[in-house]
Amino acid sequence: MKKMKKLLLACTLLLSVSWNGTAQTEEKSIRIGTDDSEMIFKVADNGRLYQQYFGKKLVDYTGLEQLPTKHEAYITNGMEDYFEPALRMTHADGNPSVLLKYVSHTEEKTPYGTETAIVLRDDKYPVTVTLHYTAFDKENIIKSHAVIVHQEKRPVTLYDYASSMLHFDRESYYMTDFTGDWAREVNMTEQKLEYGKRIVDTKLGSRASMFTSPFFMVSMDGPARENSGEVLLGTIGWTGNFRFTFEVDNKKSLRIISGINPMASEYTLQPNEEFVTPEFYFTLSNEGTGKATRSFHDWARRYQLKDGMKGRMTLLNNWEATYFDFNEEKLIDLFDDAKALGVDMFLLDDGWFGNKYPRHSDTQGLGDWQETADKLPHGIGRLVKEATDKGIKFGIWIEPEMVSPKSELFEKHKDWVIDLPNRDDYYFRNQMVLDLSNPEVQNFVFEVVDNLMEKHPGIAYFKWDCNSPITNIYSNYLKDQQSHLYVDYVKGLYNVLERIKNKYPDLPMMLCSGGGGRSDYEALRYFTEFWPSDNTDPVERLFIQWGYSHFFPAKSLAAHITSWGKQPLKFKLDVAMMCRLGFDIKINELSEEEQQFAKNAVQTYETIKPTVFEGDLYRLVSPYSGNHTASMYVGKDKGTAHVFAFDIHPRYDEQIPKLKLNGLDPAAKYKVKEINLMPGNTSALSANDKIYSGDYLMTVGLDIFSAGALKSHILELTRQ
Ligand code: DGJ
Repeated sequence: MKKMKKLLLACTLLLSVSWNGTAQTEEKSIRIGTDDSEMIFKVADNGRLYQQYFGKKLVDYTGLEQLPTKHEAYITNGMEDYFEPALRMTHADGNPSVLLKYVSHTEEKTPYGTETAIVLRDDKYPVTVTLHYTAFDKENIIKSHAVIVHQEKRPVTLYDYASSMLHFDRESYYMTDFTGDWAREVNMTEQKLEYGKRIVDTKLGSRASMFTSPFFMVSMDGPARENSGEVLLGTIGWTGNFRFTFEVDNKKSLRIISGINPMASEYTLQPNEEFVTPEFYFTLSNEGTGKATRSFHDWARRYQLKDGMKGRMTLLNNWEATYFDFNEEKLIDLFDDAKALGVDMFLLDDGWFGNKYPRHSDTQGLGDWQETADKLPHGIGRLVKEATDKGIKFGIWIEPEMVSPKSELFEKHKDWVIDLPNRDDYYFRNQMVLDLSNPEVQNFVFEVVDNLMEKHPGIAYFKWDCNSPITNIYSNYLKDQQSHLYVDYVKGLYNVLERIKNKYPDLPMMLCSGGGGRSDYEALRYFTEFWPSDNTDPVERLFIQWGYSHFFPAKSLAAHITSWGKQPLKFKLDVAMMCRLGFDIKINELSEEEQQFAKNAVQTYETIKPTVFEGDLYRLVSPYSGNHTASMYVGKDKGTAHVFAFDIHPRYDEQIPKLKLNGLDPAAKYKVKEINLMPGNTSALSANDKIYSGDYLMTVGLDIFSAGALKSHILELTRQ
């Protein structure tokens, strides 16, 4: 039916197409737009497709025909363009060029926007490239991918196969990337793009974004600003090697090419086999990065993030409290701590499995997913039962894509492991990666979750870790197609995750990759949240959360209170309560007052969750800009808001600025109340318990920042 509709629509587009792909038609425009922005493509006289415009949505199209056709939409290799192509391939006869001509296109209205598919075909070879665009009207998000297929007599080879190519003609361009390393993820660095190429990519395979995350911002005509200016935010949905290429050419035009990193990944495509690229998600804002962020958050909650519109559980995790040193009794005691804190769940971390090679450290045991008998004599079953009896949920850690060389799995199935012949092995964290291109291995990984769930249906949550990049890259399964491994690994992972989601649709899971090694929107179709960093020092987290907040809503960022950092517990809690709150700490090492405060904070958190999780984020003062930082969440009806303000390390005799708020109703009156105070403390803020207009709060601002180091405040604003 859907196909029929598409066919009819295509027929109404008044074009006729010859078999060799030449469109015999008058020039035509294709618009791909949302409520705020639009792209306009044109089929020129030569039958080729050009991107004419990408900017603010036009209210009047008069004059459109004057726009030049100078940027081909999906530039191919070997023809007259001298810069980076979107597609590079070799035909079966060895010809290394492609020339794509427009064939047809379809547009389909959906409840959220429009889906457009533009079919292009090589004018001499039976190769078809279909560019797919899905526009989300209200959220101002567009996603795009390409599908490549051919009917040549023998296989063709793909060398470059982008998901998206975008063109801009502006005065200047400023690109921000999010880079770092383990425990110092997503540092934001902005640089002006000049002639030439800037590439942001990763070659780590599985733990792909340990050094750089799969997202970026490009601000037009000046550095990015929070509340004004034109800025593009883009991210690729691929849990593996990705590449963004930003290239400014001799005419000062910028092209942005996003897709899988083709490094060591040339792909042999059989006749009629489809190569489907991952989705590239982007938004073009005319009101700075703040608006672009809110677009991403709304879209993710509604359409992409697993259980995006649902709540999240608070939890107590035992990783930093015990590391590998625990047994049944110790864990059951921790359940009492979880209960006393008032959190929803206890999460059992690494170290519960392996018998021939018990997991007493990170040196062994990965792959042997049976409970260690002397640690847990009654198995996971007893833990689930005890937790349930105490009225809390039970969650569990796994790292199912990995294997320790010291494990029974490795002894039994060496051929399941990614491992180079004739070379010494190189291990990352003493472990190796299973070959997910192999369907047998996919079954094994699926069964890690499935066996646990079949045996213990009470398990309420999984933390899915992935600590090693792919090392020693060679697949026993792929034999003479080694260059497919990086791509087929990720496809294999998605097969597994899809099977899990189908069988256990309501199972929440955390995407963890030794910290921020994985944070992309394709994986987040299967995961309710992710672990942004192993670094839980709250000052570091202010920067890390600030970075991720550009793309991901609060409910998708797990933030735990740990012993990292010597800041007061209040400061730690105020930071973590901006995201999905958890604890990973020895509760009995807190003072009585702190324990009481933590319990109160869990209750307070329940009351602020609706705005933090579902509201609009306004970043107010960047931690990068100085010694203070603040953000606020405003409920969709602007009736309630929560402000989080932090003094990090003010300078001597610093002139303390007032904090101007944002996103409120200027005409409304709001009562300001400081919440989340230590037991017995009253607020010392002059604004506490006072009423202000939204206009005043946003134009004049409040005295919240101070000259004290490591001070923090949460303010609740309630419309009167
Ligand atoms: C890395 C994770 O980021 C930590 O939270 C913890 O789960 C360890 N792995 C366990 O090995």
